Order: sequence, then C-alpha cells, then structure tokens
Amino acid sequence: MGRIRSLALRAPKSYEHTKLVAWRNANRHKFLHPKPITLDSHLAWYSTKRKSFRDHFFVVAQRSSGVMIGTIGFTSFENVGEYNRFLIAEPYRGRGFGKEALWTLLDRGFYEGIDKFYGLVIATNGEAIALNRQLGFKESTEKRTKYDKIPYLVDVIKFTMKAEDLPSWENLSWSQELDIVEQPGSPRL
Ligand SMILES: CC(C)(COP(=O)(O)OP(=O)(O)OC[C@H]1O[C@@H](n2cnc3c(N)ncnc32)[C@H](O)[C@@H]1OP(=O)(O)O)[C@@H](O)C(=O)NCCC(=O)NCCS
Repeated sequence: MGRIRSLALRAPKSYEHTKLVAWRNANRHKFLHPKPITLDSHLAWYSTKRKSFRDHFFVVAQRSSGVMIGTIGFTSFENVGEYNRFLIAEPYRGRGFGKEALWTLLDRGFYEGIDKFYGLVIATNGEAIALNRQLGFKESTEKRTKYDKIPYLVDVIKFTMKAEDLPSWENLSWSQELDIVEQPGSPRL
C-alpha cells in the first residue's frame, strides 16, 4: 500500500513545551534516563540543545495541520548519528507515524552528511524493536546503564543503518491507511 508523506520535523513552538514535558514524562520508562522532568529543567535542557551543533531536537508534526504528534532527534559524532528522543504520543500511535518520523529523520540526516545512524532500544520495548526491524536496521546487543533510583545494567539492542541501506519511501510497506489527525483551528506549520 502506498502512502503520501504526511509529517514534518520542526522546532517546538513556545506554547508546546508544557505538552512536551507531559509526553516526555509519560514515556520515561522506555528510555535509559527515566528521571522525571520539570518544565524548568526541560526549558534549560532545550536552550542548551538548540545552541549545540551536535544535538538536534524536533517536534514531529502533521504537515497539513501543524498538529504536534511526537518528538525525535539526533546527536552527531562526526559522521555518525545517534537517533534519540523518539516518541509518538499515545493517541497517534499504531497509524504508521512512528515509522514515517524515523524514516524522515534518517533521510534528512543522511542528506546532511551522516554516513551511519544508530539507535539504542531497551530489549523489552517490543513496539520500538518491531519498528526498527521494519525499517531494515542491522542489530546487535549490548549492556547499558539505566538510571533509576540506582544505576543498573540492562540489555539494549543497538540498531544500526548505513546511508546506502535506507529503503526508498516507495519501498516501505504500510499496514495502515494514512489517517489524518487534523484538528479545527490548529496552527499551521
Ligand atoms: C515506538 C513508537 C515510537 C512507535 O510509534 P507508532 O507510531 O505507534 O509506530 P507505527 O504505527 O509507525 O508502527 C510501525 C511499526 O512498528 C511496530 N509496532 C508499532 N506499535 C506496535 C505494537 N503496539 N506492537 C507491535 N509492534 C508495533 C510494527 O511493526 C509497526 O508496523 P505495522 O503496523 O506495519 O506492523 C511508540 O510506540 C512510542 O512512542 N513508544 C513510547 C516511546 C518509545 O518507546 N520510544 C522509542 C525509544 S527507543
């Protein structure tokens, strides 16, 4: 089934940060640093990130409406990129948006000169693992420190993809029809 590209990656707007904090907190257990975030700590973090050449943080938004549906980012180490901060908010899951957002990030990063991307997924995160496999990443396992009240080691899967291995948009398969999430009165991008 074909699908038109529906998402844009853009900077967050000032009024979106409160929602971003709620989404980041709701998904902390899926990440290696699960400490809860406050609006102040998020804004301080974001102001550092936006000045950095290495770190890129985007809101995932629907192109047609501007509606924010998730987040994604990457950190570059020379020509290697680690994708991170990847989440689709709960109401928008299971409709292909996660796959499109990650593909879009990879496509953009490769265009900008990244040769290889990787992402670290905790080995119990079945949805993220299935998504990475669908995009054709190569995988290996390793242990990483997860921080909770005390730091401890967890199994993670490292998903790696070289620029030449990114499937073309036309070759991606979709199990869902594109479901428009337009909301009346939403700001345009
Ligand atoms: C992982 C996440 C981003 C997926 O987003 P999504 O928009 O729901 O994913 P998609 O609808 O694009 O699904 C793409 C593929 O992922 C897999 N997938 C997604 N949700 C799944 C689920 N609940 N169970 C099994 N596989 C799932 C499937 O292979 C799916 O393809 P298919 O529907 O054609 O079979 C989302 O679940 C999320 O934000 N989770 C919490 C945060 C997180 O875990 N982030 C990743 C950290 S590394």
